[in-house]
Amino acid sequence: MSLPALHKFEQTVERQLRLLELRKTLIERNIGRQLRLFEQKSDDIGKKIEEQIRQFERKRGIRLDDEVSFLRSWFERPLSTGAVTPSGKILARTMARYVDPHSDGPVVELGPGTGAVTEALVEAGVAPSRLVLVEFNPKFCRILRKRYPEATLVQGDAYSLRRLLETLLLQPAAAVVSGLPLVTKPIKMRLRLIRDAFDLMLPGAPFVQFTYSVASPLPRRLGGFSAEASERIWMNLPPARVWVYRRSDDGGRTGSISYLSSVVRPLSSDLR
Ligand SMILES: C[S@@+](CC[C@H](N)C(=O)[O-])C[C@H]1O[C@@H](n2cnc3c(N)ncnc32)[C@H](O)[C@@H]1O
Repeated sequence: MSLPALHKFEQTVERQLRLLELRKTLIERNIGRQLRLFEQKSDDIGKKIEEQIRQFERKRGIRLDDEVSFLRSWFERPLSTGAVTPSGKILARTMARYVDPHSDGPVVELGPGTGAVTEALVEAGVAPSRLVLVEFNPKFCRILRKRYPEATLVQGDAYSLRRLLETLLLQPAAAVVSGLPLVTKPIKMRLRLIRDAFDLMLPGAPFVQFTYSVASPLPRRLGGFSAEASERIWMNLPPARVWVYRRSDDGGRTGSISYLSSVVRPLSSDLR
């Protein structure tokens, strides 16, 4: 290639690069604008819904503070809050039903939020002093501290369960009850969580999890545990299902063995 041709080629490449750079900046600005618009809109929508809830409260003479706290947290951190409202009573009671209130040892709750499931556990006969609540949202922690002063509250990341609870639990846990939005996490993290939970529990103790998804949030054949599910709870918004996992008898070295605990009653009894 002659020198003038090379020079011309360089100029063309430079022009293309500048154009590309310009386009990139425009796209970045556009994305930034869209994001700001989205944040502003979601904030406006949140405020509108909150105002409607407050109007509803005034009309009915009731307080829906937990719903408002949830809504605010959802708008701030949708993925980790995982729900727009706290679990309904039927779902919470179904979760609690899988925990034997007469068993020994602490009952660990992961992601208790404003305490919908905590309340059902206490109502079912679990002493508040046996509860170990692991929640990372500081607002929810303040609510929980007030409502359950006898419980042990751990403000932290439930996915670091071993580090958080290894020295705190003085005896193996009787159950782990989780409201964590598991499906937003990679499978590896979920499996590590359930294995850590099993290591902190009595043999055969349940890991109770609810989900809005159709499938089990933990791969049923992978983890060396058995799995059973409640019926879909249509009376919850959104409808949910409770899954119960137990480590297989051999400590998870082979496939899963199905195992039904005597404390588990079918969901239909909850609807009566
Ligand atoms: C779907 S809400 C369930 C709340 C409550 N259990 C209920 O049923 O109403 C999920 C809860 O898990 C909490 N959470 C999410 N990720 C967490 C994590 N890594 N560690 C601790 N808590 C977490 C959220 O702050 C929220 O309170």
